[in-house]
Order: sequence, then structure tokens, then C-alpha cells
Amino acid sequence: MQQINNLSARITRHQAQIKASIDRVIASGWLVLGPEVKQFEQSFAAYLGASHCVSLANGTDAIELALKAMEVGSGDSVATVANAGMYTTTALLAIGAKPYFIDVDLDTRGATLAEVARSVEAGVKAVVVTHLYGLAIPEIALIAEYCVQKGIPLLEDCAQAHGAQVNGKRVGTFGDAASFSFYPTKNLGALGDGGAVVTNNPKLAEKVGLLRQYGWTAKYKVEVAGARNSRLDEMQAAILSEFLPHLDEANTRRREIATRYSTLIRHPNVVLPQAGSAEYVAHLYVVRSQQRDALREHLLTQKIASDIHYPIPDYRQPVFGERFADTCLQNTERLANEILTLPCYPEMTDAEVDHVIAAINGWQA
Ligand SMILES: Cc1ncc(COP(=O)(O)O)c(C=O)c1O
Repeated sequence: MQQINNLSARITRHQAQIKASIDRVIASGWLVLGPEVKQFEQSFAAYLGASHCVSLANGTDAIELALKAMEVGSGDSVATVANAGMYTTTALLAIGAKPYFIDVDLDTRGATLAEVARSVEAGVKAVVVTHLYGLAIPEIALIAEYCVQKGIPLLEDCAQAHGAQVNGKRVGTFGDAASFSFYPTKNLGALGDGGAVVTNNPKLAEKVGLLRQYGWTAKYKVEVAGARNSRLDEMQAAILSEFLPHLDEANTRRREIATRYSTLIRHPNVVLPQAGSAEYVAHLYVVRSQQRDALREHLLTQKIASDIHYPIPDYRQPVFGERFADTCLQNTERLANEILTLPCYPEMTDAEVDHVIAAINGWQA
């Protein structure tokens, strides 16, 4: 069976380095928020071209704590797309904020300046945009400039886009702050949960640093309200430091696979994403088809797994009941019905990629 991802292959490839980093941490006896965490934070900030990185327990916490640091709180309305797996919305609900759902572009599957402007006109307190599937939002610089003009904080969710660039600038450095996830399947993934807030604003970084550890300004002295515990542990930080130098090479391989798909898949009922540019680090390779379910069935008969990222727009999630019954975003709805994710990960061989291509090209829709 061709899986959608293969983490064991990645672990096997880096096994010696992983074991060495775990041994180093065990020998040090320092397990949480120690030198490995500090080292990784510095390296990751430097890689992105940002001044601060504050590591956390996961990417959802990163969204939540970044927004809290931006003074977003109970009752505030925040713009977010509804096609990105409910993560931002979950963070908003956790701080009592209200999601203001904006539509996405059909081709880039990301937010647009026009939709961000619509939300700002409607009075949102902050904007979150998601660089989905590893593709940098093409208008991110314009969106950032617009938000600065309007005095509205902008958070970039980069959980799927480590290393993607627009005009030589990495995503995560356009807005006031950025959230990252290091969940194992991410382009930069730990062997467990992890996340970070990245920013060029020292005040935001300091605030997130306090929020992640009980609001302590000194040991056992709580000065900041609304804080909690959300820390990256030393083992994950050490492992991430081992993986970080391989990120660009892994992204290059992902991009190669995506380009091979986009060049060689030819089917009248399958719409392909553009691939090959520095903007796209191919976290997920997502096609569209009006007969998506039939395509998925066909791939299964060829022993190829696929997935749907994501099948339910946030505003249709059962948790909301009728709350967003009047919300209906045209492109978001259409994408939820048509998208299908194909296997795409750095360890995939050309023969495996070609098997997927042949299976789609041979599909009798
Ligand atoms: C776009 C996006 N945002 C946020 C998250 C949340 O990250 P985590 O699972 O580390 O909480 C994820 C992934 O899981 C994601 O894909």
C-alpha cells in the first residue's frame, strides 16, 4: 500500500543523529526549557530571518498565545479562513474570541487581500492567515502592509509552510508574529508535539515567553494573567536541531515530487496545483476533482492512500450547531467537496510517485 506519509522512513534515515541527541539530553539531566530549547529557538529564528522564536508545546498553543500577546481576548472578533482544519478556530474559542470567517482563493486556497479588507471593514480586532499546504499566500506582503496601515495585528499561521519564501523572504516574517507547529508530519517535525511563535517584536516575544510558563516573571512569582504551561521539552528541541539543517533539502525533494505530479498528471477531471517555485514547500499536494470520491475509490483499488485536508469548513463543524448557519463561503464550500491530498513526502521514490501518476492518468472517470 502506498501511504500518504512515511515517518518511519524519515526516522530510519536520521536514526543515528536522533539517538545521539536523545543521549545528549539524558546525559545532561536537563529535560524542560534548557539549553537545547534555547539553541533551537536561536537557530530557527536565524533560519527564518526573524529576531525571536519562543518555543511551545504545539502549534495550536502558538496561535492562542500569540493572539493573547496581541491583546486579543474575550468577545473580540478575529478573521480566519475556514478551510484550514479548525486549528485557528480552536485557538480562538479557547480565548473566548469570535471567528470571523473569510473566503479563500480557489487556486491558492489561501486568504486574499480583498477578503482580509472585508473583515477589517467589519471590525475584526486581528487577522490570522494560513499558508496552507506549504504555499505562501501570494498577497502576503500586501496583506501585511494593509494591516499595518489599519493598525490591525496580523498573525501568519505557518504550521504547514516551514521554509516557504516570497521574493526571498520566508513566511513567518511578514506579519506581527507567526505560529509554527512541529507535529511529526510537518516539514520540520519533532518526534512528538511542538510549536513556536516567531516574531521580530521583542515585546510580543517576551509576553509569549511569560504566557508559556504560568505567567512567572521570576520563579514562583506570577505577574501575568491568562498564562499557563506550554513548553517544548529538551528532547524534542534537540531532535528539531538535528532536523533543521535538512529542512531545505527535504523541501527541495518535496518540491521535486510536486513538480513531477504537476507536469505528468494529465486528466480532464483533475485540476492540479502549480508547483516548482520557492513559494511552495509542498507540505501537502492537493488536487481538485468534481468526482473526488470516485477518484479516491479508484486510487484505493490501485493501493494508493489519499486524504482530505479538510472535509468540513470550520463554520460547519458540529461543535457550532446553528451558530454559523447563515455563513456560506463559496470557494471554501467548493474546495471541501473537491480536494484530495496525494502522497507527497521527501522519502517517496520516483517509482512510487510514478505509480500514483499512472494510476490517475489511467482513471476511467
Ligand atoms: C495549518 C495548521 N495550523 C495549526 C496546526 C496546529 O498545530 P498542532 O497540531 O501542533 O497543535 C496545524 C497542525 O496540526 C496546522 O496544519
